[in-house]
Amino acid sequence: MTGGSRLVGEVRVTGAKNSVLKLMAAALLARGTTTLTEVPDILDVEIMAELLRRLGCQVSHDKAVAQVVITVPDALEHRADYDLVRRMRASICVLGPLLARCGQVDVALPGGDNIGSRGLDMHIDGLERMGATVTNEHGYLIASAAALHGASIWLDFPSVGATETILMAAVLAKGTTVIDNVAREPEIVDICQMLTEMGARIEGIGSSTLTVTGVESLEPVTHRTVSDRIVAGTWAVAAVITGGDITVRNANPDHLRIALDKLTTAGAEVSSTDDGFRVVMRERPKAVDIVTLPYPGFPTDLQPQFIALNSISEGAALVTENLFEARFRFVQELARLGADVRTDGHHALVRGVERLSGAPVESTDIRAGAGLVLAGLVAEGVTTVYGASHIDRGYAGFVDQLVGLGATVEAQG
Ligand code: EPU
Repeated sequence: MTGGSRLVGEVRVTGAKNSVLKLMAAALLARGTTTLTEVPDILDVEIMAELLRRLGCQVSHDKAVAQVVITVPDALEHRADYDLVRRMRASICVLGPLLARCGQVDVALPGGDNIGSRGLDMHIDGLERMGATVTNEHGYLIASAAALHGASIWLDFPSVGATETILMAAVLAKGTTVIDNVAREPEIVDICQMLTEMGARIEGIGSSTLTVTGVESLEPVTHRTVSDRIVAGTWAVAAVITGGDITVRNANPDHLRIALDKLTTAGAEVSSTDDGFRVVMRERPKAVDIVTLPYPGFPTDLQPQFIALNSISEGAALVTENLFEARFRFVQELARLGADVRTDGHHALVRGVERLSGAPVESTDIRAGAGLVLAGLVAEGVTTVYGASHIDRGYAGFVDQLVGLGATVEAQG
C-alpha cells in the first residue's frame, strides 16, 4: 500500500464477528433450522461452520445474501477437535450449549495465542456451580452433567466468553441462575435477544446481572446479527487519520460512544446519519489518552487503531491496556514505520511524530493488523503488511472497501 490518500466515501458494515460466532453456537440449543442474517464473509465463520458440521449439523453459508442456515439434528456429537480450536479460539463457545444439550462435552484447550494466553477459570467455575464436573485430560476440557441446575454465580471480571458460556448453559438448566458482574457488550445483548426469541427466559439484558430461568427446550429462529462496532470504529479512525470524510452505514454510534467522543476530542466532526454515522476530519489530529475497559468502556479491540492514530497526532498520549497486555507487541512493528511509542507494562506512551515512513511490517493479530494498515495509509511511500490473513479474519472485503474510499492498496498472495 502507498500512503497519502485522503479516504472519502461510504462503507457499509455487516454483522459482528464476535457476535455471529456465538449465535452460531447458540443455534445448537434448538433442534431444527436456524437462520442468521448479516453474516460477515470471514474465515472464522467458515471455521465455526466446519465445527458445527462435525457436531452433526448441516450448515450452508450463502455469501451473496450474507446468510448462514444451520440445521441441528436431535442427537449431536459433543467433541470440538484441537485442529479447529487451535485455528480459532472462539470455538470454545460451543462448551455451554453442548453441555446443555448433550450432558457431556469435550473441547480442546485453546492454549496461548498472539494476544496472550487467556484463562477459562470463570467458564469452568460457573459450569461447576451449575452441577457440572469438569476435568482436563490429554489437552481437552471434559465437562459432564447429568442435569444442570440453577445457581448463583459471581464473575471476578465481566468476561465476554465466560458470560456467554454460563448463559448458554443456564437457558436449559433446571431452575434459576443469577449471574452477577456479567459482560454488557452489545454482542452479549445480541445473543440474549436471540435466546429470548428462541424461548429462553432472561431478565436484566444489558445490565450487570442476568437472571436466567431454564426452560425445557428452545425453538429455532431467524436472527439478524448486530452490526460490528469494531469494524465501524476502525473506519472512523481511518477517516480521522487520513484527514478524510467517511460515512459508515449499518452502524450504531451508541455502541461506540467513548471511541467517537475521543475522535471528537482529536478534532473530528462526528454526526449521526439515518443508519450510522459520518466522520469528517480537516486538521492534524490531537493525541488522545485512552484506557481499555469492558463495555461500555473503551474497547481493547480498537486500541491498536488508536495507537496508530496517536502516532501521527499533535502531542503525546497515554494508552492503558487493561485486557490483553500482549496487544502492545504490535508497537514494535509500528516503530518500523517511525512511530515513537514506549511501553511499560500495560501502559504505552505515544509521542506524535510529523510523518511515518513506509516499510514492511508484520501483523500478529486482527486488530494489530488493522492498526498497521491505518498507519500505512498515512506513511510516506510503500508499506507492506505481512500476515494480512489475520486482518481478513475480522474485516470482510477490507482491501476492496479501502480502494473504494480512495486508498492505494492491493492484496497479494
Ligand atoms: N479471563 C480469565 N478467565 C476467564 C475468562 C477470561 O482470566 O475465565 C481473562 C482473559 O484472560 C482476558 C480477560 O479476562 O484477560 C478478557 O477476556 P474475555 O473473556 O472478556 O474475552 P474473550 O471472550 O476471550 C472476546 C472477544 C475479543 C475481545 C474480548 C474483550 C470473541 C471471539 N473475542 O474475547 O475479541 O477483545 O472479548 O472485549 O468474542 C478480537 O476480535 O480481536 C478479539 C480478541
